[in-house]
Amino acid sequence: MTTIGLVQRKDDVGKTTIATNLAVTLQDRGYSPLLVDAGPQDPQQGTVRDWSAKSGSQAPETIGVDQPAVHEKLSSIEGFDIAIIDAVGKLKEMTVSAIKASDLTLVPVRPSAADPKGIGQVVDDIKAHQDLTKGRPDARFVISRATGSSKMGEQIQQIVNEAPFGRLDAGTNQRVAYARALGEGSSVHETGDKEAQSEIDAITDEIEQILRADEQ
Ligand SMILES: Nc1ncnc2c1ncn2[C@@H]1O[C@H](COP(=O)(O)OP(=O)(O)O)[C@@H](O)[C@H]1O
Ligand SMILES: [Mg+2]
Repeated sequence: MTTIGLVQRKDDVGKTTIATNLAVTLQDRGYSPLLVDAGPQDPQQGTVRDWSAKSGSQAPETIGVDQPAVHEKLSSIEGFDIAIIDAVGKLKEMTVSAIKASDLTLVPVRPSAADPKGIGQVVDDIKAHQDLTKGRPDARFVISRATGSSKMGEQIQQIVNEAPFGRLDAGTNQRVAYARALGEGSSVHETGDKEAQSEIDAITDEIEQILRADEQ
């Protein structure tokens, strides 16, 4: 099973949004994805578990992992070919556990975010694990919730430039369809927003390419 981890120490950056849309899109492309909600159930935060409770029976299967032992949990699960972990940001141990479990980590970066700390911390955590394991997991930034006017803050730009990994060309812009789909337990493919759909398709295309290249 290939594992993709959405990791960022800051919340509200689009981890759950990208995880759910990616899982639905991969399922549409013929994969058997498992969504992993790595964090305590939190009614204040729209989590994968909340999303899953509203989604229909056709939606990707979801499990919750409360303890920072994502790797062990996944090693005992069969019947899926790709796991997508949505790791809660405020728990460092959970983020590190998700990094350990992943073949590819995606770090959503919200260009307008005032606080670059969460990005710096997760880049350090990924680097530390790559140093231990000859470069695993692979990693990419993914620009999330961009607006026409949102130029990346200088400090964020610097972290992205100096990190030992690059960013996806594709990303999400700020669009109502994302919030609607998350709230309704669906994906942007169930909304009429063609732009949002093509953003998610492009993210999924790039991820498939990276995973294929990494396999070789
Ligand atoms: N591209 C986007 N456009 C508009 N709203 C978005 C977008 N991405 C996420 N959101 C909204 O922003 C909030 C935080 O996103 P979420 O995916 O829950 O972030 P995280 O999991 O990192 O906390 C949610 O209300 C979500 O609907
Ligand atoms: Mg979330």
